[in-house]
Amino acid sequence: MSESLPPADPSSKVWDAPEYQQSHSYIWQYGADLLGLLDPQPGEKILDIGCGTGHLTAEIAKSGAVATGVDSSADMVRIAGKNFPNIDFIHADARSMSFDEPFDAVFSNAALHWIKEAEEVLDAVAECLKPGGRIVAEMGGKGNIEGVVSALRRGLSATLGHPRNEVDPWHFPTIGEYSRLLEARGFEVSFASHFSRPTPQREGEEGLREWIRMFCSEFLSGLDAEVEDRTLTLVEEELKPRMYDGVRWTVDYRRLRIAARRVGPPLTG
Ligand code: BEZ
Repeated sequence: MSESLPPADPSSKVWDAPEYQQSHSYIWQYGADLLGLLDPQPGEKILDIGCGTGHLTAEIAKSGAVATGVDSSADMVRIAGKNFPNIDFIHADARSMSFDEPFDAVFSNAALHWIKEAEEVLDAVAECLKPGGRIVAEMGGKGNIEGVVSALRRGLSATLGHPRNEVDPWHFPTIGEYSRLLEARGFEVSFASHFSRPTPQREGEEGLREWIRMFCSEFLSGLDAEVEDRTLTLVEEELKPRMYDGVRWTVDYRRLRIAARRVGPPLTG
């Protein structure tokens, strides 16, 4: 049987910001490593795209840089402002953001893959950087979370009759794809790495379904509780031998890390 559900709009993801802050702190803990590549300097103006609850924006500010956070979730921006009242956090869409003063650098951790329109974001990034300004970013790369999402699609096919491919909200590029987008906008890529980073969840058998409910909510939207539970049980059964060690689940993250400098106007037409 194939049940029809209203299409979800991937660009309107609603985040559970308190739960994100409480249970997914590994996101900015892993991201701290990326700050070395950014190498923020005192007095530099740095924009953090997809700042979430503001923890990495605050780390940037500790270096003496003037950090600004931007996020498309009003709830995240509100919590970031409460966490770090001395930092500016702005509620804006990275595809259409614009600022009065240009930045020395743009930073982004675990956010850009949520925006399918990478061209629009990089147009806005190029626009808001000073000539010679840099971008340092990490996002999901090609193959990111593929094991979990494939199992989820198979689970949905079994319980719902179709895999809901149309709700996929992510863009997980290769180094080549992302470098081409940057180069077309006048950037010179100085560093790129695509690597696996298996990501353990907090202890407990519920860890995978909690992760799926938080990060793959588009695939579950509109399902009644019983269908959702059956789907998640199928996913757990399939993945347990590979991703659960008896204590915690480990999700198959693949990262794309990239640094580039704006050296000129767009290179291609
Ligand atoms: C990530 O790569 O950070 C990610 C991507 C999609 C869902 C959850 C996490």
